[in-house]
Amino acid sequence: MKSSEKFAVIGDPISHSKSPQIHKEFGDEFKLKLSYDKFHTHSSELVARVDSLIDLGYRGFNVTLPLKEAMYKIGSLRGYDFSARSKSAQSVNTVSIEKGKIFLDNTDGIGFIKSMNYPHHFNLHKKKLLIIGAGGATKGILGPILDVHPMSITISNRSFEKIALLRERFNSPLLSFNLLDDLNGDSNFNDYQNTGLFDVIINATSSSVTMENSLINPKYFRHAQLIVDLFYAKKLTSFLRTATEYGCSNVMDGFPMLVEQAAESFYIWTGLKPDTNRIISKRDAFFDNRL
Ligand code: ATR
Repeated sequence: MKSSEKFAVIGDPISHSKSPQIHKEFGDEFKLKLSYDKFHTHSSELVARVDSLIDLGYRGFNVTLPLKEAMYKIGSLRGYDFSARSKSAQSVNTVSIEKGKIFLDNTDGIGFIKSMNYPHHFNLHKKKLLIIGAGGATKGILGPILDVHPMSITISNRSFEKIALLRERFNSPLLSFNLLDDLNGDSNFNDYQNTGLFDVIINATSSSVTMENSLINPKYFRHAQLIVDLFYAKKLTSFLRTATEYGCSNVMDGFPMLVEQAAESFYIWTGLKPDTNRIISKRDAFFDNRL
């Protein structure tokens, strides 16, 4: 890679993005002088932003909420090249621009799978999974999770609409769907207790951001081996706090996944694999003291 190449992340909101800091660490590791900016981009400005980044000679950029699916649509309309994993998620978090050739990818799913190395090399193979939420975050991780062949994946969502969309997109005998209210009823808990409770519970909703509740009947936490919240903050999220209060000590937030997906983007752009463990283990340096 040439030194002083330009990268960026676009999204809305974007001010708290940790991507510039993470990519700076990656660059420093390989003694590359790259720049990595963040640009607040409303969805109505996305097309103009993409064109301007291309015109300004950016080598690549990340796309974050809420623009990942819109970026996919722009790429489809313009005939850009996509990775298989980006097609499966129908969303884009990484754009690579090399000699005018544009390539769209999605590293969220592989980032999630790699983050499983972090809690003592947890292996999802043959495990019973519960994923709460059926939105963009779930779409991003579902393909790569199916690829490691868990025993089953139950997806539970607050409302029906997004369940129907996911069911259309992912067709696998490992998948089943239900509504959160049904999952949380005692009779359903008893049914699962008879057929086998969940080994891994993943919060893929956007609810940790706005509210303090456990989302699911906390009895499910007692039996799980690993609880993951894709959201992250300096302190334990309310979801993970509840899980620990109910006796599950193996909990992980979305910070390792954030670093791993960034490392995969960096690899696409530079061909270099950063030491992600080093960065994950100094996570406090990435959080403002007030957060
Ligand atoms: P993202 O891209 O972050 O996944 P999204 O596509 O808007 O965002 O999806 C948000 C997910 O979080 C949805 O599954 C949503 O449930 P609905 O489909 O019923 O809207 C879920 N969600 C958000 N707030 C929630 C809450 N307070 N309780 C339960 N689920 C919530």
